[in-house]
Amino acid sequence: MGVYAVTGSASGMGYQAAQRLRAAGHTVIGVDLKDAEVIADLSTPQGRRLAADGVLAAAGSRLDGAVLAAGIGPTPGVDRPRLIFQINFFGVIDLLEAWRPALAETADAKVVVVASNSTTTTPLVPRRAVRALLNGDVAKAERAVRLLGPAAPSVAYAASKIAVSRWVRRQAVTPPWAGTGIRLNALAPGAIMTPLLQQQLDSPGQAKAIHAFPVPVGGYGNPGELADWMVFMLSDSANFLCGSVIFVDGGSDAYFRADDWPKGVRVAALPRYLARFARHRFRK
Ligand code: NAI
Repeated sequence: MGVYAVTGSASGMGYQAAQRLRAAGHTVIGVDLKDAEVIADLSTPQGRRLAADGVLAAAGSRLDGAVLAAGIGPTPGVDRPRLIFQINFFGVIDLLEAWRPALAETADAKVVVVASNSTTTTPLVPRRAVRALLNGDVAKAERAVRLLGPAAPSVAYAASKIAVSRWVRRQAVTPPWAGTGIRLNALAPGAIMTPLLQQQLDSPGQAKAIHAFPVPVGGYGNPGELADWMVFMLSDSANFLCGSVIFVDGGSDAYFRADDWPKGVRVAALPRYLARFARHRFRK
């Protein structure tokens, strides 16, 4: 039986994932603002340090896997973009950087980062906000989204999830991650019926946008079903999954951009492709 860290374990998808892992006999070290083994506020660097250290102390410096589900949604508020960046982006990457050696200890650890289908379905997300986050510059990311006025929280939310997905894909294939046997992947849910979504549905302006949003199979996702995906992505069946972003969103991503992806390597991208091809040192 394994030892797993789950952030956001007190509610929604994180709670459901923790319950399933415990029911299967694993030890879960939950991280949340309340009702968790490690109580910590991921919106501050000190809170993230506390969470990272608390989990390592409880796990004995060896982790079989982690689910990074703590996050906040794009409800209105002037402070919201900063909080979104701190929790949804740095609340993932700071913990994973601290936990990586403990994950590497087990040689086939699995990590699931909860992203979102807002990554591909939200218009006008400034590229410089995503770049700023990946460069660790929250103030610059905030300035980039503030220009969008009332849309700033939604755009900040999508930017935080694009940045975290990109971080996952960049890191997943590197020697410190794939090279030490860690499978790092992301799950991108659509609208899932949790307290986070309910908070948005309780705000009239946001409810209208959510109701109007195209979902080919209709309705909302179920947090338990998303937790089943997470547990699958933590299992041996996912040994060959690395750097993937799995969309479980009722078809919205496919509806908006059926032809955008997958794409072959374009002529302009060929030099970079060939350089990476020549450079790789992966074992056979
Ligand atoms: P939820 O609100 O039910 O659970 C989120 C958990 O994160 C809560 O227990 C909350 O206390 C915790 N959390 C929030 N801020 C925190 C902080 N500063 N420090 C520590 N813990 C904190 O939400 P849900 O829906 O289960 O969300 C899980 C993840 O899924 C989030 O990252 C969210 O962005 C993402 N997501 C949710 C979707 C939805 O429609 N529900 C859609 C796409 C992605």
